[in-house]
Amino acid sequence: MEKKPIELLVNGEIHEIVVKPNDTLLEVLREKLGLTGTKEGCGMGECAACTVLKDGKPILSCLTLAIDVVGSKITTIEGLSIGEDLDPLQEAFVQHGAVQCGFCTPGMILTAKELLGRVKNPTADQIKEAISGNLCRCTGYTKIIEAIQAAEG
Ligand code: FES
Ligand code: FES
Repeated sequence: MEKKPIELLVNGEIHEIVVKPNDTLLEVLREKLGLTGTKEGCGMGECAACTVLKDGKPILSCLTLAIDVVGSKITTIEGLSIGEDLDPLQEAFVQHGAVQCGFCTPGMILTAKELLGRVKNPTADQIKEAISGNLCRCTGYTKIIEAIQAAEG
């Protein structure tokens, strides 16, 4: 398959890369840009471990072709912290014990980021609905919900 040069805007930086038409955004982020904070779980749209933000909205990077996000602004978990300073959501996840194996955490935090940008002081039910596609095998979700509520306050 013929490769093609594209520009991707990721975490505020433009990256000039060459991709195959069927390269997923997940593959490009992890393998070409070294942004391994975005996790590959199922690889088929069922776990949301691979969630990133496209123009502020959560998308599944395992189901998204890199060529389809040219012209969009992509944010990965690496784009949330500024230098050593963690995003308040990242801090809250750590403080509330919402990170165990950590595999779901980047996707969970990006999904929560979009929710908090859209809904002020979300209820537990609103949080549950927002993260309903993000699977966590470790925490039972309670600590994740508490962390998201704490990040707001
Ligand atoms: S890795 Fe993308 S949904 Fe599971
Ligand atoms: S912390 Fe392990 S999957 Fe969520």
